[in-house]
Amino acid sequence: MPQQEALERCNSIEALAVLASDCHSCGLREGCRGVVFGKGSPKAKLMFIGEGPGAEEDRQGLPFVGAAGKLLDKIIAAAGFTMDEVYIANIVKCRPPGNRNPSPEEAAACKPWLLKQIELINPAIIVLLGSVALQNMIDPKARITRERGKWVRRQGIYCMATYHPAALLRDASKKRPVWEDIKQVRDLYHRLIGCRAELPERFPGISKAPLRR
Ligand code: URA
Repeated sequence: MPQQEALERCNSIEALAVLASDCHSCGLREGCRGVVFGKGSPKAKLMFIGEGPGAEEDRQGLPFVGAAGKLLDKIIAAAGFTMDEVYIANIVKCRPPGNRNPSPEEAAACKPWLLKQIELINPAIIVLLGSVALQNMIDPKARITRERGKWVRRQGIYCMATYHPAALLRDASKKRPVWEDIKQVRDLYHRLIGCRAELPERFPGISKAPLRR
């Protein structure tokens, strides 16, 4: 676990990245080149959370720079967002060997970093990419096929899961539902920005609970 006191004192995303670069809270760090912390604007109101770095991300030290990342870039651009408007991170910050899913223990060890990232970025909307992100942030039993495209509210943040871009590369039939989900994200983003204080009254039906710790 990252040192609680250092985490609490940390008040910028840049300082948090430096702290995280030294993390050995789980075994993943031994098998990778380094911590892949996050990328994008510290002021972003829209955050994407994936699963964990792959080989290319590990090589470059940045999330979503491989094939799935290129597709994510296209999805973000097609929805009219620039890279200055988004922040991108992962459930785990070190590459799981062979691109396997991170274990619950690895995800839990990395969670304090992600929660602090969310606190510092303070997004209005989080898009959870794939079932690993959905299950680690919302509900360990949630199924992506059932929950994608639905808004839930966690700690004042509107969260929606959609299919992971890597799943789209394997199965083109998932492109349409992802596009429908991203259009919802775009529409809510435009309604939210500049009027966040009024939101609870405007969206009364959305379930509220904390993010999973
Ligand atoms: N897949 C992820 O979930 N994250 C990355 O950074 C790259 C691919």
